[in-house]
Amino acid sequence: MSTIKTRTTFSFAKYMKELGIMMIGGTLAFTGFETISGGEKFYKEVLMPSLQMLDAETAHRFAVKAAKYKMVPRQWTPDPPSLSTTVFGRKFKNPVGLAAGFDKDGEAVEGLLAIGFGFVEVGSVTPQPQPGNPPPRVFRLREDNAIINRYGFNSEGHAAVLQRRVQDRERPGAMKGVVGVNLGKNKESPSPIGDYVEGVKQFGGVSDYLVVNVSSPNTPGLRDMQGRERLEKLLDQVVAARDNLKLDQKPPILVKIAPDLTQKDKEDVAAVVTKREGFIDGFIISNTTISRPSSLQSDHKVETGGLSGAPLRTLATDTISDMYRLTKGKIPIIGVGGIASGQDAYNKIKAGASLVQLYSALIYGGPPVVSKIKRELGQLLEADGFSSVAEAVGVDHKAT
Ligand SMILES: Cc1cc2nc3c(=O)[nH]c(=O)nc-3n(C[C@H](O)[C@H](O)[C@H](O)COP(=O)(O)O)c2cc1C
Repeated sequence: MSTIKTRTTFSFAKYMKELGIMMIGGTLAFTGFETISGGEKFYKEVLMPSLQMLDAETAHRFAVKAAKYKMVPRQWTPDPPSLSTTVFGRKFKNPVGLAAGFDKDGEAVEGLLAIGFGFVEVGSVTPQPQPGNPPPRVFRLREDNAIINRYGFNSEGHAAVLQRRVQDRERPGAMKGVVGVNLGKNKESPSPIGDYVEGVKQFGGVSDYLVVNVSSPNTPGLRDMQGRERLEKLLDQVVAARDNLKLDQKPPILVKIAPDLTQKDKEDVAAVVTKREGFIDGFIISNTTISRPSSLQSDHKVETGGLSGAPLRTLATDTISDMYRLTKGKIPIIGVGGIASGQDAYNKIKAGASLVQLYSALIYGGPPVVSKIKRELGQLLEADGFSSVAEAVGVDHKAT
């Protein structure tokens, strides 16, 4: 009896998945023009809901492939000059980037830049290939516009991702854009610091910036590396590895932190990084949260993992504000967490972010969310009399 039940459940799930894929295939085939031309309404009301018939991980894989084969709306018009900005020595045509975790293996960089992102972050990449946690490991909290994931650094590993980065950069006519690589560590690594040092050596020559990710909640012990002594040791070795690279332009190094740090943790991290001003080039704030706000509605709120999207928004902005204040605005910040509109991006910029990133909003709104955020951000800057993004960075602190 139980065998029959299991089999029935299994084939029903398979049927639903195939039905979903067929529907999306059909949608793409019949609406090819809209898919490429990218109406906001079409994506939000038609394409993304059909993608949501698939389980979250299958939809994620599908979306990466769509970007890889450029089945995405391209941005043809240039960004307005007010959105261009220079941060840690790199020029960005706009300040809205794709956060780590979408293109973990660097498969779709060119397609993602073509959507209109000002920069794309590949990874997290681990030295050795590893499968990550067993599925299911990504959950949509639809009622909350949020995601919980516990992927656990599924990665094809340094060698495979490096090969793609090299090929991408050498391909004649390849689209130019700022590409960062986010470094992680293997779950069973005997030398966690060694994993990051290896990442710097491997990707230093093919990255516009590198990220030391010590804040993913799904690798046991990883977040402990944000503690003062361990962080000092880690950053000193990572900086030494970067400075030893035989390159004309050595990549900036950023540290990605969690939104769940205590006040004391934040003070420690700020002190460690400020002491290395000029060597550590910035922060990414923040990764997903292990907290579960009481406002969450979805049944998936009980899943283990990191929460992202709308419920993370204020927590991430507050963390940006705290770190900007603690570092006296001297360390550039990339603000990320719950950005889905120009106002969300602007709030992070005013709190102290020089650039912003998003991920969860792409799952719910699809690629047109990028042009929407940029358009709205441009309008907000203009309305407040700013002629550039840089002028608005940290203004919340100046007002008080
Ligand atoms: C499915 C998923 C996978 C992620 N994987 C990574 C990762 O590998 N490395 C990392 O630094 N952050 C990862 N993140 C965190 C995002 O980069 C980002 O910090 C976080 O989701 C907050 O932004 P958002 O609210 O716009 O999604 C992941 C997020 C999601 C939703």
